[in-house]
Amino acid sequence: MESKLQQLKQEILNQLAEVKRLETLRDLEIKYLGRKGELTKILRSVADLSAEEKKTLGKLANEIKIELINKFEEVKISLGKNTETDYIDATLPGVEIKQGHLHPLTILQNEIEDLFSSLGFMVLDGPELESDYYNFTALNIPPYHPARDMQDTFYIDHKNAKGEYDMLMRTQTSPMQIRAMQKYGAPIKCIVPGRCFRNEATDVRHEHTFYQLEGLMIDKDINFSNLKAILEVLGKKLFGPDTEFRMRPKFYPFVEPGSNGEYSCFLCGGKGCRLCKNTGWLEIVGCGMVHPNVLRAGGIDPKKYQGFAFGYGLDRLAMLKYGINDIRLFHSVDLKFLKQF
Ligand code: DAH
Repeated sequence: MESKLQQLKQEILNQLAEVKRLETLRDLEIKYLGRKGELTKILRSVADLSAEEKKTLGKLANEIKIELINKFEEVKISLGKNTETDYIDATLPGVEIKQGHLHPLTILQNEIEDLFSSLGFMVLDGPELESDYYNFTALNIPPYHPARDMQDTFYIDHKNAKGEYDMLMRTQTSPMQIRAMQKYGAPIKCIVPGRCFRNEATDVRHEHTFYQLEGLMIDKDINFSNLKAILEVLGKKLFGPDTEFRMRPKFYPFVEPGSNGEYSCFLCGGKGCRLCKNTGWLEIVGCGMVHPNVLRAGGIDPKKYQGFAFGYGLDRLAMLKYGINDIRLFHSVDLKFLKQF
């Protein structure tokens, strides 16, 4: 056993003398001194020897082990100093650090927020779990009114003291009109981007979870032309300076008069194409003058103040702007899709 030990020691020393790279040194260390290393195995077998042999051989084995550990350390230090084999080439390209980026909806939301902030609008955030009162009643949609059926609502399985289901996932960002009026009073200028929910059967144009961006401006002597001007500015910012804006009557319970805002099609410039279904116009925004009942629900006197409100579907806006043909891609977590932005 003694000769075996000496032989192994010599073998290791010979190999150490040849080592030129830290990697090779590490491999040797594992091969001989590691948990399953050759020297370790011999050291373990010392336990099976007689007491007499244990004394002499055990001591020798330990000495050899310590000597070798020191030798490994020595070689490691000298290799560390060896600049010829272990140098850094500063001209090599760096390792690319993979970084994520903003979601297309967030990019668009930020762009719109920047525009409205520059016009003096506050950017507000509101609850996604909303009460029936704020989502409908306060917006001039009383219980049992057929206008409630315009939206398929997710109600929460929770009843109030009267036994009614009165909590829901907000179907629109419009309830924040009321909350903002109650909190800040008039005059007020704000936008509210946020997530909304509807019990939709999903397809390329419909999602159960989507984003809207609400806008509200209330002051003395606010009129329809102010509304038109603001929405026109947004259209030019989003789709280019030649974009035109027109309004056509549409019923929304919380505005009177209510309107559908349309932008001239940025793809064909208004001539008519597949995107605008040959009309030359893209229906994009619901808007109108805030209904007196809504002002009252917000604690504002409609005889003193007027205002306008509007609501964009952010997903639809992003689909048009970026040419996305399926709304479900936004939540698909599909990197091939997301990496394009
Ligand atoms: N809340 C409406 C919807 O979800 C959009 C809307 C229309 C918002 C007209 C408004 C508005 O503020 O005045 O379809």
